[in-house]
Amino acid sequence: MTSQELRKKYIEFFVSKGHKEIPSAPLVPENDPTTLFTSSGMQPLVPYLLGRAHPAGKRLVNSQPCFRAEDIEEVGDNRHTTFFEMLGNWSLGDYFKKEQLPWIWEFLTKELGLAKEKLYVSVFEGNNDVPKDTETYEIWKSLGLPEDHIYFYGADKNWWSRSGSPDKMPAGEIGGPDSEIFYEFTQVEHDAKYGAKCRPNCDCGRFLEIGNSVFIQYLKRSDGKLKELPENNVDFGGGLERLTATTNNNPDIFGTDLYKPIVEKICEGLGTSYEKNKQYIQVIADHIKASVFLMKDGVVPNNKLQGYVLRRLLRRVATKAFLIDKQKSDSKFFRSLIKSVIDIYSERFEEINTANIEEEVSLEIRKFRATLERGLQQLDKSIKDNENLGLAVFNLFQSYGYPLELTIELLKERGIKFTDFDMGQFEEGRKSHVELSRTASAGMFKGGLADHSEVVTKYHTATHLLHAALRQILGSHVEQKGSNLTVERLRFDFSQPEKLKEEQLKQVEDLVNEKIKENLPVSSEIIDKEEALKSGALAFFGDKYGDKVTVYTIGHPERSEGSHFSREICGGPHVKNTSELGKFTITKEESAGAGVRRIYATLS
Ligand code: SER
Repeated sequence: MTSQELRKKYIEFFVSKGHKEIPSAPLVPENDPTTLFTSSGMQPLVPYLLGRAHPAGKRLVNSQPCFRAEDIEEVGDNRHTTFFEMLGNWSLGDYFKKEQLPWIWEFLTKELGLAKEKLYVSVFEGNNDVPKDTETYEIWKSLGLPEDHIYFYGADKNWWSRSGSPDKMPAGEIGGPDSEIFYEFTQVEHDAKYGAKCRPNCDCGRFLEIGNSVFIQYLKRSDGKLKELPENNVDFGGGLERLTATTNNNPDIFGTDLYKPIVEKICEGLGTSYEKNKQYIQVIADHIKASVFLMKDGVVPNNKLQGYVLRRLLRRVATKAFLIDKQKSDSKFFRSLIKSVIDIYSERFEEINTANIEEEVSLEIRKFRATLERGLQQLDKSIKDNENLGLAVFNLFQSYGYPLELTIELLKERGIKFTDFDMGQFEEGRKSHVELSRTASAGMFKGGLADHSEVVTKYHTATHLLHAALRQILGSHVEQKGSNLTVERLRFDFSQPEKLKEEQLKQVEDLVNEKIKENLPVSSEIIDKEEALKSGALAFFGDKYGDKVTVYTIGHPERSEGSHFSREICGGPHVKNTSELGKFTITKEESAGAGVRRIYATLS
């Protein structure tokens, strides 16, 4: 089965069970300063899993591109990737276990035709706070799963939240017990290095997790206890890549149509074979795909946050390609990889600027090559000066991002051999470095809490006021091009050909403050998209919307023109009244690209 057929089958199956298909969210979440990437299908739905009404209703389905930065080091086997598409279905306080489990069973065994005897499931065994999930166990049994295909595990394996087990969940995070489904590839021999006995959740690769039904029922309170949510929710996620591999009974996802064309281009361009350089090729294929998707959603390589992760991916791509063949890994080669990614997803890349991505990638890899050259000179000097080799190599790694394996290759070229002592010195430095960056980024890369804290909510409403004020002062050519909120400030990008004059900035600032002082109510309603647009609600054209949308109005909620100050299609959250915002101050105005200006502002 092709991945396209599978994706379509899944959506159609859940639509036939009363679900509405919702558009996927971008890989970089807007207005959520606590997380860098969309790392699961449920992430954009957190406000709705917490109880807010979703415009598309209580049964939702989609296919969501996801990126997991924390898995970078895991890539290099038959099943781990940083980028993947997650097929997801959700019940927002609607159906629960007795519908979800039979449906997903029906989908896997009837729609996909997977052999029942190769399917295994896991169930939550309970802990001090949450009881054993006997209901799920009974449902699986009633569906015909033999007892020896049902495994009970604790919270380390059968609990899902974006932060992991309950003890790791920060206050405000949601999660719950889950039930995973595994497919057994009988052709894969168990590797005893992973334990005496193979079972679902074993890391040897014989069992592949292909789906997970999470029963999101709990919220972590600030006193550390779990509180039951007002509604029982279902959050199912299954990786499209893994499901496709499973339907073809091939344990290697890099053999599916979602990777094969990239793998072929790598082998062709570098004059190698998949078997010969499997691990490197898996890394290149995953990372180049992830990079293209990140760049499509506006990330550019730099030294900050998402840009830094993208830079790391591209450097790893370049390194692995150099290690296979330094000469052949030229910009033509990298361009051919980008093209192959875009061909696979052509239906998702309608308005993509391919040339831009190719340029950025070539530039970044050229810069990396120059860095490598500088590093090499440094290394030659260290060797000449008889410095400690392990430390010299660590310095290259730390200062130039020079990977160990690449350095070893180049030393080899110089006829130098590493001793165990050198390796020990390098390892020590690397470990403390990794620990340091882990501490610094704790929470950030994990796909942390969607920040609906009071402050961010205020900035969200202030952004709508700013948008409306800019349109009133500068004209209706002003359109939102981007927005980013932190607990300290808002940042707003908008179309505007030239720099704003001092007096224009003052007028905009005054108008926002005037509206704050007018104590305007902020209200929301769920209506048809067409109706919303007709009533003058602004839409952010970078976003995709479903048929039904939430519209936030600041001012009198009547729809007639002039009765309100601002009206926008938006997911929220917002304050109830502008009087909650305090004083609005524009702190900076600058260019954000051709024809786009950027404003930073604070509330105090
Ligand atoms: N949220 C769960 C996951 O990411 C299931 O969708 O695995």
